[in-house]
Amino acid sequence: MSDIAFSDLQESKPFRLEKSGKAICVVKVGQEVFAIDDTCSHSDASLSEGDVEKFAVECWLHGAAFDLRTGEAVSMPATENVKSYPVHVDGDSVTIEI
Ligand code: FES
Repeated sequence: MSDIAFSDLQESKPFRLEKSGKAICVVKVGQEVFAIDDTCSHSDASLSEGDVEKFAVECWLHGAAFDLRTGEAVSMPATENVKSYPVHVDGDSVTIEI
């Protein structure tokens, strides 16, 4: 069963998804979909409320950025990575592997 339809995701617009008790930030970039933990590792802000540029989401609260492909913290003030999750796209069906 899919978690969200590919056609419901907007380009570079984060979508907050709850699955298995976790909040996940899901972002479509081109034909790819990425999923990382929604909670910023710096101080608990929701990354799905941030802005996406290329393959990074920027936290709205203090400006830390995370690579959507890996969850790596790529700018301060965050120093800890967030978890990234495998995403399966099958036609219009998008499934996040938790
Ligand atoms: S809470 Fe995200 S950068 Fe501070």
